Amino acid sequence: MSVKLQKPFDLQANTICQGFVFLQMKTSKLLMVRPGEWIDSKAYKKLQGLHNSIVIESVVDNEIKENFKTLLRKHLKSKLVSEVKRSSEELLNFFHQQIISGTSFNCWAQSCYEVISKASQEQMTRMYEVDIKLLQKAYLSGAIAVWISLVNDYTEPSFIEDIYHLAFFQDIGLISNNYSYFVKEAIHKEQQRSGTGLSHLVQMKASADEISAFESHPQKSLEFLAEAQLLHNQSLVQSLLVQHEQVSGDGLLGFSEEVMSTWEEILVLGDKLIPFTSLDEFNLLNELSSFKDHQDIKNPIQKVIKKVLSFFTLIPEKESA
Ligand SMILES: [Fe+2]
Repeated sequence: MSVKLQKPFDLQANTICQGFVFLQMKTSKLLMVRPGEWIDSKAYKKLQGLHNSIVIESVVDNEIKENFKTLLRKHLKSKLVSEVKRSSEELLNFFHQQIISGTSFNCWAQSCYEVISKASQEQMTRMYEVDIKLLQKAYLSGAIAVWISLVNDYTEPSFIEDIYHLAFFQDIGLISNNYSYFVKEAIHKEQQRSGTGLSHLVQMKASADEISAFESHPQKSLEFLAEAQLLHNQSLVQSLLVQHEQVSGDGLLGFSEEVMSTWEEILVLGDKLIPFTSLDEFNLLNELSSFKDHQDIKNPIQKVIKKVLSFFTLIPEKESA
């Protein structure tokens, strides 16, 4: 699958980066900013000072992004049930066409961010300063949660805005003085297999404060989002407690699938589909394929996984030579 080179995006302060920004050295290029990273005013000033030597390789096609945004806005403004259904189908058709033809997922993520996000510049800067990856993951998580919702017929416009913010802010509770490399590793391990986050922290002899930062982050994220009042339906904020739960009941709280609502499962699945290791060049098809092959290991959430994986039936068979 070939990846089209895009026109450079405008490098500005207080924006999400839409491509790879390199510093051109004599014989090589040094990667400065990656897609999905926050360009805050300090980073921007630094980059501007190096202006002549900056090379930008955008991963976001502006025309496709604008199409996504138009379809998203139309969907969010839909009121009648028939309108909501139609606009959701239009959006999904366009999304699936783009993913199959190799358009970067960041194109969708950027559209969701520009149309739906109510995150403030201060919140973005705080996430970025604690860990660049936290913000990158939030940016991708919001977008994937919207897609998982739409394919599962959870299409109601105010719900779509809410699920975006639930997914975007699900890990904001990690912002604390006790966030550390061990905590980050624990989050990554927990995504792969339940229960391994905590055991990793114990094995690494992490401090009690680090263990607490990891264990309490769902509750802290809930408190943050409850206070920020960004949701149409405030009661959905409770879903943040179960972000690392599993069908088997092996998650942090031990809830099993029977007691989880569909929107909670959308968050759990979204979290699993965006591993920390693939944030720079997130490829939805690759992640889904890996999920399909290792369902037993990754312990998928049955209620919402089927429709997500049915995406593969849309991909035309490759013609044999
Ligand atoms: Fe989390």
